[in-house]
Amino acid sequence: MTKIALVTGANKGIGFETAKQLAERNIKVLLGARNEAEGKKAEEVLRKLSLDVTFVKLDISNSADIQNIKSYIESNYGVLDILINNAAVFLDSAWFGNNTETVSQQTLRDTFDINYFGTVELTQALMPAIKKSKAGRIVNISSVSGSFGAHLDESHFLYALKPYAYSASKTALNQFTVFLAHALRETNIKVNAANPGWVKTSIGSDQAPLTPEEGAKTGVALALMDDNGPTGTFSQSGEVLPW
Ligand SMILES: NC(=O)c1ccc[n+]([C@@H]2O[C@H](COP(=O)([O-])OP(=O)(O)OC[C@H]3O[C@@H](n4cnc5c(N)ncnc54)[C@H](OP(=O)(O)O)[C@@H]3O)[C@@H](O)[C@H]2O)c1
Repeated sequence: MTKIALVTGANKGIGFETAKQLAERNIKVLLGARNEAEGKKAEEVLRKLSLDVTFVKLDISNSADIQNIKSYIESNYGVLDILINNAAVFLDSAWFGNNTETVSQQTLRDTFDINYFGTVELTQALMPAIKKSKAGRIVNISSVSGSFGAHLDESHFLYALKPYAYSASKTALNQFTVFLAHALRETNIKVNAANPGWVKTSIGSDQAPLTPEEGAKTGVALALMDDNGPTGTFSQSGEVLPW
């Protein structure tokens, strides 16, 4: 039977490539996007490649959109096999240093609303549909910016680079990954966090070395792994990262 996947923030960047790579594996992919015109454009591009994708309007910081997608999936498919929590914002991306003393409450709240609260609310809403899957996979597209290990390591490039709002939101997402994996440890559902690497996108800038196609690979591999694969991990290209 065809698997069903939902990718959030699938209109561009790593999310778009993730949707494409999953659809190329004959998975039915729902393309979540908050902007209808952008979502439909992505749907059109992928359908021209004969891929089975459907745009769904989904702003992950909007509870009504979350309830709509929950009902849409339950009534049309009855199941969700793969959830890729990819959508995010990097509102303090211009900060090359440590803005912890000065970052505004607004930036913190706006960042957490999407990267953390929206992702958690969506995942909780979709749990009943994911539990109907024979092998549910939840992949949280995180960032090494959320890693305590990287930030504490003086030899790591992130030692000097501490945009607090984005980094803390990804740390919270990593904690969600560990806790949800633990909650689901007796089930066939696997929950993992992926670091895509530094990727040429709106978030990564055009100075990044990796293409979105390369950046999508870690998340896609975690979504496609068999029942022997791990749960509750944080990795990039198969290499385990420090939390
Ligand atoms: N690029 C990198 O170097 C890098 C490194 C580490 C981690 N990541 C992570 O990779 C993921 C994808 O980012 P990207 O690099 O592909 O950046 P991107 O091109 O800016 O894509 C971000 C996507 O998230 C969507 N989005 C933002 N807020 C949303 C909301 N409230 N509801 C639904 N969608 C929303 C954006 O939609 P709009 O087009 O409407 O804004 C866009 O589709 C993110 O989780 C990011 O943190 C990226």
